[in-house]
Amino acid sequence: MRLPPVDRRRRAALILAALLAACGSETGTEPSENEGLSAEALLDPAACKDCHPDHYRQWSGSMHAYAGEDPVFRAMNRRGQRETGGALGDFCIQCHAPLAVRMGLTSDGQNLDELPAHLRGVTCAWCHQIEAVEGTHNNPLRLATDRVLRGGIRDPVPNSAHAAAYSPLHDRDDLRSSSLCGSCHDIVTPAGVHLERTYAEWQASQYSSDDPQLRNTCGACHMPGRNAPAADAPGVRVRRVHDHSMPGVDIALTPFPEAEAQRERVQAELDTLLTTEICVLTAPTGAQVEVYLENVAAGHGVPSGATQDRRLWVELVAYAGDQVLHQSGVVGDGESVTTLGDPDLWLLRDRMLNAAGDEVHMFWEAARVEGEQLPAPSLAPPGDPAYVNVHVPRRYVVEGGPPDRVTVRARMRPMDFDVIDDLIASGDLDPAVRDRIPTFTLAGSVLEWTPEAAERRVSPLSRREALCVPRLAR
Ligand code: HEC
Ligand code: HEC
Ligand code: HEC
Ligand code: HEC
Ligand code: HEC
Repeated sequence: MRLPPVDRRRRAALILAALLAACGSETGTEPSENEGLSAEALLDPAACKDCHPDHYRQWSGSMHAYAGEDPVFRAMNRRGQRETGGALGDFCIQCHAPLAVRMGLTSDGQNLDELPAHLRGVTCAWCHQIEAVEGTHNNPLRLATDRVLRGGIRDPVPNSAHAAAYSPLHDRDDLRSSSLCGSCHDIVTPAGVHLERTYAEWQASQYSSDDPQLRNTCGACHMPGRNAPAADAPGVRVRRVHDHSMPGVDIALTPFPEAEAQRERVQAELDTLLTTEICVLTAPTGAQVEVYLENVAAGHGVPSGATQDRRLWVELVAYAGDQVLHQSGVVGDGESVTTLGDPDLWLLRDRMLNAAGDEVHMFWEAARVEGEQLPAPSLAPPGDPAYVNVHVPRRYVVEGGPPDRVTVRARMRPMDFDVIDDLIASGDLDPAVRDRIPTFTLAGSVLEWTPEAAERRVSPLSRREALCVPRLAR
């Protein structure tokens, strides 16, 4: 790639800045000396594309790139500004387009279309200029002004575009790196409701332990490594590089780069998330079916983050021959699970309640949250009050005879139609978005019980003999 010519005066200023950076960096080791891109040029991910094509491509399809485009985000923010008479201010946009806020280009996120696209979303320049984490929630991240890009590489090969330095906050092998991700992935609303708690959940989990056997940072799970050059530039060698696509459960709802690939990554992530177990206690008139779910992959609750919007539920069908004896959680693709009116429904999510105790759909209306998540393995040992069991049970009663087959699967939606339809009804969201809301089936949770496939053992929930699948390996 060709760099723009740098005039002499600027060159002197750049060298000075690089020297200052070399002595002043709080978290880094000595940055490599550099002239390179101006502070403004560094803000544009397109400036990174030629030398870091893989990082750019992966990020461009990520929800970090989408954070300022997301039509649901825009609709909610617009409605929130209206309903609070502007009191919401930059609360939402401080995380969804942090650079634009920092540069003073938006105070409420309603003028995003007037801003350069590269200032929307969580961008390369935002993450890679973080020099300190000054809190635990609501994006308390402090950016450096030295134009040194921080990362996990201790001996970066000098390049013509930017200075580079090692930072423990960016090193997924360092426990501190979770605070960089976590403090943005943890929201306390202006009314004081701890609405999104991914960081707090991780901190309470075994993964925040000092013990290297248990420890897993956000990056360790969400940025898998592979061996490749970190840049397409002179002098580099193969080293450990880290994936930037960061699939979770959200996908782009409007045309967006990498959309198909990102959806596949999300599906793959969800496929290994949960395991299930079914135990059946039969009686002449029917049966009790116990279903167990276990979060085996996430380092926080499931669902996490926007738990008030997420819906994770269990679909269960019990048969005698071809006859359905009992079913729960059977939902069509365009149908709301929240308003299903199914008394047995096992739905994992947060409900937001206002001061009067009525359920509400929007952040700014919430006075408190309650709900059910699948926990991550806890940091506290068994016996400690903070200990939680990851093996979470639910009992279903089947009448009309004992079943000869029971099927179970967990399904998940990033957001349900109760919320989407509310935003459409208020005129804030394009109705076309409704058809793009995905419903995922989690492959690891799909299980069938038959008496033949089951083994007899004491069920954990009722502590009685039952027929359970899967058979335990001995
Ligand atoms: C002229 C090519 C070039 C351009 C343009 C470029 N980089 Fe780099 N970058 C490199 C090279 C070379 C390295 C060092 C790679 C190595 O040592 O393996 C590097 C390293 C990095 C590192 C790792 C730093 C560390 O010590 O861990 C980050 C982060 C980074 N670049 C981000 C960016 C971002 C963001 C942009 C766009 C604003 C960008 N780069 C533009 C060539 C470039
Ligand atoms: C500036 C705040 C900020 C920082 C720092 C940040 N994120 Fe995010 N992240 C977001 C926002 C905002 C979204 C959601 C965008 C959307 O869906 O509209 C998001 C989305 C995600 C998702 C996808 C979630 C889903 O349900 O699809 C994952 C996974 C993720 N981030 C992981 C990380 C990790 C790992 C780090 C640290 C390396 C990190 N984030 C750092 C703000 C941040
Ligand atoms: C959400 C925060 C976040 C965003 C956005 C982000 N990165 Fe990174 N990036 C990281 C972290 C954290 C690491 C270090 C991982 C480690 O070493 O453990 C990293 C590492 C790197 C590295 C060093 C090589 C490697 O893979 O470890 C390069 C180069 C890089 N990023 C470039 C980019 C570019 C270019 C963009 C935008 C197109 C970008 N990053 C966007 C968080 C981010
Ligand atoms: C042990 C591995 C592991 C660790 C550690 C981990 N995650 Fe996750 N995370 C996952 C898996 C697997 C999923 C997919 C499940 C899902 O989407 O709910 C996930 C999902 C997510 C989601 C989407 C959740 C949702 O339901 O909307 C976000 C956001 C996220 N992680 C952020 C983080 C952050 C931030 C940290 C660190 C504080 C972190 N993760 C630590 C494995 C991990
Ligand atoms: C502290 C940073 C932060 C603040 C403040 C914040 N968000 Fe987010 N937002 C996130 C993160 C992180 C995610 C990804 C969470 C996940 O995937 O679990 C996200 C995801 C979302 C999503 C997509 C996920 C979904 O389906 O719900 C929407 C929409 C959204 N936020 C709207 C808003 C609105 C509206 C506000 C203000 C009322 C707001 N956010 C304030 C960080 C923030």
